[in-house]
Amino acid sequence: MSSIIYEPNRAFSKEARIKNMCEYKELCLQAEEDYTGYWEKMAREKIDWIEPFHTVLDESEAPFYKWFLGGKLNVTHQCLGRHLKVRKNKAAIIWESEFGDKRIITYLQLYYRVNRMANLLKNRFGVKKGDRVVLYLPMIPEAVFAMLACAKIGAIHSVVFGGFSAEALRDRIEDAQAKLVITADGAFRRGKPYMLKPVVDEALSVGCESCKKVLIVQRNREPINYVRGRDFIYNEIIMQESQHCDPEPMDSEDPLFLLYTSGSTGKPKGVQHSGAGYILWAQYTMEHVFDVKENDTFWCTADVGWITGHTYIVYGPLAMGATTIIYEGVATYPDVGRWWKMIEEHRVNQFYTAPTAIRMLHKEGPDEPQKHDLSSLKVLGTVGEPINPDAWHWYREAVGNGRCAIVDTWWQTETGGHMITPLPGATPTKPGSATFALPGIKAEVLDNDGNQVPVGEKGLLCITKPWPSMIRTIWGDPKRFKKAYFGDVKKDGKPVYFSGDGAIVDEQGYITITGRTDDVINVSGHRLGTAEIEAILAHHENVAEVAVVGRPDPIKGEGIFAYIVIKNEGGIGEEINMIQELNKLIVKEIGSIAKLDAIRFVPALPKTRSGKIVRRILRSIAKNEEITQDISTLEDPSIVEKIQELTVS
Ligand code: WT7
Repeated sequence: MSSIIYEPNRAFSKEARIKNMCEYKELCLQAEEDYTGYWEKMAREKIDWIEPFHTVLDESEAPFYKWFLGGKLNVTHQCLGRHLKVRKNKAAIIWESEFGDKRIITYLQLYYRVNRMANLLKNRFGVKKGDRVVLYLPMIPEAVFAMLACAKIGAIHSVVFGGFSAEALRDRIEDAQAKLVITADGAFRRGKPYMLKPVVDEALSVGCESCKKVLIVQRNREPINYVRGRDFIYNEIIMQESQHCDPEPMDSEDPLFLLYTSGSTGKPKGVQHSGAGYILWAQYTMEHVFDVKENDTFWCTADVGWITGHTYIVYGPLAMGATTIIYEGVATYPDVGRWWKMIEEHRVNQFYTAPTAIRMLHKEGPDEPQKHDLSSLKVLGTVGEPINPDAWHWYREAVGNGRCAIVDTWWQTETGGHMITPLPGATPTKPGSATFALPGIKAEVLDNDGNQVPVGEKGLLCITKPWPSMIRTIWGDPKRFKKAYFGDVKKDGKPVYFSGDGAIVDEQGYITITGRTDDVINVSGHRLGTAEIEAILAHHENVAEVAVVGRPDPIKGEGIFAYIVIKNEGGIGEEINMIQELNKLIVKEIGSIAKLDAIRFVPALPKTRSGKIVRRILRSIAKNEEITQDISTLEDPSIVEKIQELTVS
């Protein structure tokens, strides 16, 4: 983190919802003095309830916290229905393909589209309240129709990122026991068609008993395999459905969606969110962090397959009645000016992306932003990983022209939306720091015993009070939920939520996130569990032992580094073959986002005398750091030097 402080832009602050630190602190104080009262007021003001709630927060089964009990709502009313009175002819979605084709969908059109799809799910596929529907879709408006159609009838969507492999998709379909998969023939990337439907076919070829039907949206119109009785073409049947559909009244705590994410152990976890708390959060953060106003155009570049896409492409912007941009392609097609050109053309007001993308665009086209009129921009956000001060400064100067607020937002799939972030009109920012917790969020940096760590020292980033949009459980595995999030840190004898991240607080209270403290790697803002990757590599017939660690990467944040002990000491040729085979395995089981950046074949792994692999040492070696930990307790201390030599080679 740099120690320079940037004050918010005065002209912006004047118009902002939260205009200065006094107002920010005043809100924090209100929440501190009457925690449930604060959230009660927010929830009553911001949500259009079908029936009001009677209990703000039920802690009786902690950590299974329940919010706004007794309330009934439907989030699609919050995102669509209630807007029809005031902004039905406003653009809800502006979609653009790599080729520059555009689709503009007004709130009224979106409302009808969602209704038709909701009716299709109900009538044709028998999808009912509580059923799970897996979405494996490209970045097309139909992905939004499908998510909201599920929400409208009370079905639980589980969006699987289109880059995941058939095996990863199958695991998720099976874990959720999904009844239906909604996919597309494929889409376009870097100007060329790619396919999704064959991946679904492969996923469903084994197991997946629960899933009897597949709905296919035609996008690239490439030939696909068609299974009679199982597969249905959306474009052929959608117009037979009515454009009217009553929303299902949902209890506040009914699940809205599942989203799978990696943990430090075992298989990916189905993070479960409920409707009321989540939609409140989407709106609360859109107002406070992006300061979105009635005529604003909002662009989040994430994929809808990640939580960022859920909250800040779909639910947040639509709950606000804003215009959300959806771009189907890559940032560098046809050239590195693509995003800046789109910002200019659509007059984007808030832009939200990942540090990886900023670093890449900085490297590939440092002067590109200046070639475009970016004067519509007001707030620039980042998310997914720590942002280094260099990238931060370029974002501020080259993209924001020194005028825009930079909001470095820290949060997780499990938190539903922003937790620690500057407020654009109020917070003086320090490059590299996510600054302070939102009003109503109690973030603390603790040691294992729940004591606050001293200023400037690294500790465990915990959220010590429940909040409305928090993860409710891990789908089908409440024990794992408790252990993964409420198992490590206790404060005053009570388990508190531990994020898995480390953080440092400085003398002014600024929070800087230092990255994961567990065995999770963050590659380009995507979470991957080392255990997951190791389990896959261990399947290779010639792998005896394997340990995977993250290593800093100038663009991606972290790269994946694998240390492997092979069974039969082969020649160099065999090792080269193995590198290809191992990467093939990874792509098959997870997808190319998890490709290995480097593999080192070593004679043994550093282990304790009881046989536990000491990954910390491997992390230090991979980073080329000096080893500070005591290695004398290792079974074979001399192995450290050997691995060091092999690492640099
Ligand atoms: C992990 C969560 C939140 C949506 C995208 C990723 C890291 C996230 C920041 C930030 C430093 C960050 C953390 C966190 N992270 N935002 N502003 N500064 N690190 O969601 O896949 O659930 O990953 O991303 O390590 O735990 P996710």
